[in-house]
Amino acid sequence: MAALVDAAREVARQLLETPLPRRWSHVQAVAAKADRISAAVPVEDRDVLVASAWLHDVGYSPDLVDTGFHSLDGGRWLRRERYDERIAALVAHHSCAWLEAEERGLAEVLAAEFPREETAVTDALCFSDMTTGPDGQDFEVLERLAEIRSRYGPEHLVTRFIRRAEPEMVAAVQRTQRRFAGNAQRQPI
Ligand SMILES: [Fe+2]
Repeated sequence: MAALVDAAREVARQLLETPLPRRWSHVQAVAAKADRISAAVPVEDRDVLVASAWLHDVGYSPDLVDTGFHSLDGGRWLRRERYDERIAALVAHHSCAWLEAEERGLAEVLAAEFPREETAVTDALCFSDMTTGPDGQDFEVLERLAEIRSRYGPEHLVTRFIRRAEPEMVAAVQRTQRRFAGNAQRQPI
């Protein structure tokens, strides 16, 4: 199944590397982190996690902006390209996107188009994204959330979203750390 991950990396590289090099740095670090933390999810889900990490921000690519809500745009594009349906839905909902969708008036659209799973995979994807900065640096989750708020400014809808999402994001990070610690003791990574 490494082919799934390789294909995801190549798709993300083509969409992000040249037009959005800073975003591409972030994405490479998020994928590396998802790989490192993959013992937090069942063995059969690990490639799905890492492939989703590679693809989670493709919706920022100028080639495929549609609504301007990157999670939904990324999920829609992956579906149009007949990409794996579960991965398209993970991208559409990544990192509490349903709360950002509410701020954008797109909650019903997102929910109608993509099923939202609530699993160790969604938590680990959120962990990987929310502990990685815009240049790929490691952050504690609260540092990362503060960085986003300062980047967008106090009035921006992304800042409102992040404020609302903070408890759920922190909980997802903590659940992932607990699962990783538990599973890493039981099985070789
Ligand atoms: Fe991200």
